Amino acid sequence: MTAAAGHGGPAAGAAGPPPAYGPGAPWPGASRLPNAAARLTSQDRVPRGRGAAQWEPNGMSVTPVLDLRGIDKSFGPVKVLHDVDFTARPGEVTALVGDNGAGKTTLVKCIGGIHPFDSGRYLWDGVPVRVDSPRAAAALGIEVVHQDLALCENLDIVQNMFLGRERRRGPVLDETAMEELAVTTLSALSVRTMKSVRQRVSALSGGQRQTVAIARAVLWDSRLVVLDEPAAALGVAQTQQVLELVRRLADKGLAVVLISHNMNDVFAVSDRIAALYLGRMAAQVSTSEVTHTQVVELITSGRSGDLGLPRDADTPPGAGAEPARGPAA
Ligand SMILES: Nc1ncnc2c1ncn2[C@@H]1O[C@H](COP(=O)(O)OP(=O)(O)O)[C@@H](O)[C@H]1O
Ligand SMILES: [Mg+2]
Repeated sequence: MTAAAGHGGPAAGAAGPPPAYGPGAPWPGASRLPNAAARLTSQDRVPRGRGAAQWEPNGMSVTPVLDLRGIDKSFGPVKVLHDVDFTARPGEVTALVGDNGAGKTTLVKCIGGIHPFDSGRYLWDGVPVRVDSPRAAAALGIEVVHQDLALCENLDIVQNMFLGRERRRGPVLDETAMEELAVTTLSALSVRTMKSVRQRVSALSGGQRQTVAIARAVLWDSRLVVLDEPAAALGVAQTQQVLELVRRLADKGLAVVLISHNMNDVFAVSDRIAALYLGRMAAQVSTSEVTHTQVVELITSGRSGDLGLPRDADTPPGAGAEPARGPAA
């Protein structure tokens, strides 16, 4: 098997020749980065109640933090998600892949409480929960970084990071505390590209904006961060920075879900890959156990050899927003 080596999660730290960035290589940042983020102590963070995840000695959680079972979702007569199972584990990057229209964004919106799903179970730390609003998702520790980011252009970095959750001292905003926390969070993530946290977001590059959005998730002590195509509009260097940040989030113990079309990015940074095909989960596999070709086949035809959907799953009666594609189409 010549497929990409896994990252080994938080334990990855072995010395060796610097690996190339790209398919088949472990994520380069994972072995070289000092664990700066660990310096962000729980006192530094904005407190939130957190559930009790169960941990194995290697740092991997026994229980997925998020475990979706049999999710169905229709928009009117159009069934977009069919019986979808999906898990995300602490300390891991799960890449969610699929063709345009496969249902990735819909699934993410179900996770984030924006779309209610029609049937299925939503387990959090193994416990059934009801996530029927973004507020309910945020209360669990779910942060979704949407593709359009939803940052406010006319506000600065600090204001964006604390938007809607501002710190106050008595009746006034505690600007000093917020600024300090913003700086601590960014430097704990080894972000050094920002001149000042008082810069307006309108003056930032695409990569810097992604960084602010991701740092906001860390500041709020999220347990699951979902990133919808964070590198879609970025150049090579910026993409690499954002992917390093994604890896660091997972190495801090967060569960990260990364939607991406770029196979190099997916193989460089993910521990697991979940492939949606026409609204069905074709496979959720360990990145180290599959090749690029297999993943591309899962995306384009829903199966690859023994992996993926059974042959008759392409055209379920009355299902699918798009015509089925595949070898027979
Ligand atoms: N609000 C909506 N109303 C009706 N159909 C929708 C809505 N949102 C998404 N869809 C349909 O659901 C399918 C999956 O879309 P989406 O989840 O955005 O896919 P992806 O993110 O994988 O490209 C598409 O066919 C899309 O047209
Ligand atoms: Mg989408």
